[in-house]
Amino acid sequence: MTRRGVDDAEARRANRRWWDADADAYQAEHGDFLGDLDFVWCPEGVREADARLLGELTGRRVLELGCGAASCARWLATQGARPVAVDLSAGMLRHAALAADRTGVRVPLAQADALALPFADAAFDTACTAFGAVPFVADSAALMREVHRVLRPGGRWVFSVTHPMRWIFLDDPGVGGLTAVHSYFDRSPYVEQDEHGEATYVEQHRTLGDRIGELVAAGFRLTNLVEPEWPAGHEGIWGQWSPLRGRLFPGTAIFVAEKT
Ligand SMILES: C[S@@+](CC[C@H](N)C(=O)[O-])C[C@H]1O[C@@H](n2cnc3c(N)ncnc32)[C@H](O)[C@@H]1O
Repeated sequence: MTRRGVDDAEARRANRRWWDADADAYQAEHGDFLGDLDFVWCPEGVREADARLLGELTGRRVLELGCGAASCARWLATQGARPVAVDLSAGMLRHAALAADRTGVRVPLAQADALALPFADAAFDTACTAFGAVPFVADSAALMREVHRVLRPGGRWVFSVTHPMRWIFLDDPGVGGLTAVHSYFDRSPYVEQDEHGEATYVEQHRTLGDRIGELVAAGFRLTNLVEPEWPAGHEGIWGQWSPLRGRLFPGTAIFVAEKT
C-alpha cells in the first residue's frame, strides 16, 4: 500500500475491479449485520428507522448511491418510497438481485458511476448512501455537484463516511489503532497497488471542513452532522471499527444537507 495521487479514471478502474472481486466476501462478512430489508447507516448500527435522517419517505423518489446489495433501497420501498439503487460494481449489484429474489422486494437497479448519473436534472426528492461512492471518487466535489443536479430544489442529501479523524490512525481495531501516525491534513489517498504500480483499491480522505466546503460550494446547506456514539452492548467488530476505539472517538460521520 502507499499514499499517492490518483485521478478519477484510475480510481474508477480500481474500485470497480475491487468491489466486483470483493462482493461475495463483503456480503458473507457483513450481510447479516446489514440485513436484506434494513437501512443501517454505519458499523455503530444507526438505523434509518430510528434516526429518520431522510425525512418524509412516502411517495418520495429516492436515489441510493453506492448501494452494494441495496438493502437500504429495499427498506425504503417498504416505507412507501420510490427508490432507485445505483452502484459501480456489477458484482455488488448481483447481490442486490439475489436479495430481491430472497425478499420479493424489487427496486430498479442501475450500474453507473456516481460521477456521471444517468438521470435527468431534478429527478429525485432525496439522495443517500451508507459508505458508498463518496469515499472512493477522486473528485468528491464533482460528486456533490452531480447529486445536486439530480435533486429537486429543497431535496435532501444524506451520506455516511468514515469519520475523517480516523485517518490519523492505522486501520486496526485493537490498541494498534489508538496511536496517531498520520497527519489529519494529508489528503493523499490510501492506495493498494499491484506489481505494475496500477491501483487495485483506492480510498480518499477529506477533512470535515473539506466535506462541508464541497457541499456548500455545490449549492447545499448543511443541516446536521451526526457523529454516532458506540452503543452500549455492541461488541461487534467491522474492519477497524471496534468497541475499544468506538468508546474513545467517532468512527462515522453522517452529513445531512439540503439543496438550496
Ligand atoms: C463499502 S461499500 C457500501 C455498500 C452499501 N452501501 C452498504 O452499506 O453495504 C461501497 C460501495 O460503493 C460502490 N462504489 C464505489 N465507487 C463508486 C462510484 N464511483 N459510483 C458508484 N458506486 C461506487 C462500491 O461498488 C461498493 O458497492
